[in-house]
Amino acid sequence: MYVCSCFGVTEKQVKEHAEAGACTPRQIASASKAGTDCGSCVRHIQALLGRGNCPRRELLDRGAPALTAEVSEVPDLSEAA
Ligand code: FES
Repeated sequence: MYVCSCFGVTEKQVKEHAEAGACTPRQIASASKAGTDCGSCVRHIQALLGRGNCPRRELLDRGAPALTAEVSEVPDLSEAA
């Protein structure tokens, strides 16, 4: 079923983007353009995202940083200058 008829984005695609880390309608828009034309689908996208659909949101709810990356090796930048 289409969520965003302006860009032909389906409910399944929105859920896939959410599983890939998009937690907000803005992040869904960045990934798929959904919600960036008439905007009538934004509430539906927000409802689909809801609580519990976003692993990063669960991290935030627990007070953990959600946008971190593990860096195993820090490059030596002293030679770059
Ligand atoms: S239906 Fe999504 S931007 Fe128009």
